[in-house]
Amino acid sequence: MIGHYVRRFFTSLSRRPPSPADEIWAESLVSPAAYALFARLSNTDRRHLVQSARIVAAELPAETDRVWVQAALLHDVGKFDAHLDVLGRVAATVAATVVGNTRSRGWAGSPRWRGPLGTYQCHDVIGAVEIRAVGGPEEAAVWSELHHHPDQFADATIPPAVLRVLDAADH
Ligand SMILES: [Fe+2]
Ligand SMILES: [Fe+2]
Repeated sequence: MIGHYVRRFFTSLSRRPPSPADEIWAESLVSPAAYALFARLSNTDRRHLVQSARIVAAELPAETDRVWVQAALLHDVGKFDAHLDVLGRVAATVAATVVGNTRSRGWAGSPRWRGPLGTYQCHDVIGAVEIRAVGGPEEAAVWSELHHHPDQFADATIPPAVLRVLDAADH
């Protein structure tokens, strides 16, 4: 998980938005309400999600696999609620490392600096709630909940071959 965040930190230094073609493609993939969850995110987060969805679309091109492309596009929408910039995200990651993931997640809703850090650590669960609130897809909510918990992949409802593609596309 730390290696993941270190890589993400370096890619997040660029603030450029996704290309117009990528934005149009993203909008065509999901319902208007689900797209609204995506569209409110920062340029950096939208770029990461489109890139992730592009990789999944290339690996799983069948029309019946479209729901997994949607899952990749939406898996980090819960990051919106923490409103953390790049340095705040580094702080959240360091806090999770130092005090432990479970404890830092418990900070969500706390006053001052702990609240946003805890909320960021909970972006997986928050995103799942938000995706379900707009009507799914349920597979995207499940992947949001799961995507930072490889220890739970074995018990997941997502097929193992799909999980491998989704996970690789998130790195
Ligand atoms: Fe994430
Ligand atoms: Fe991600």
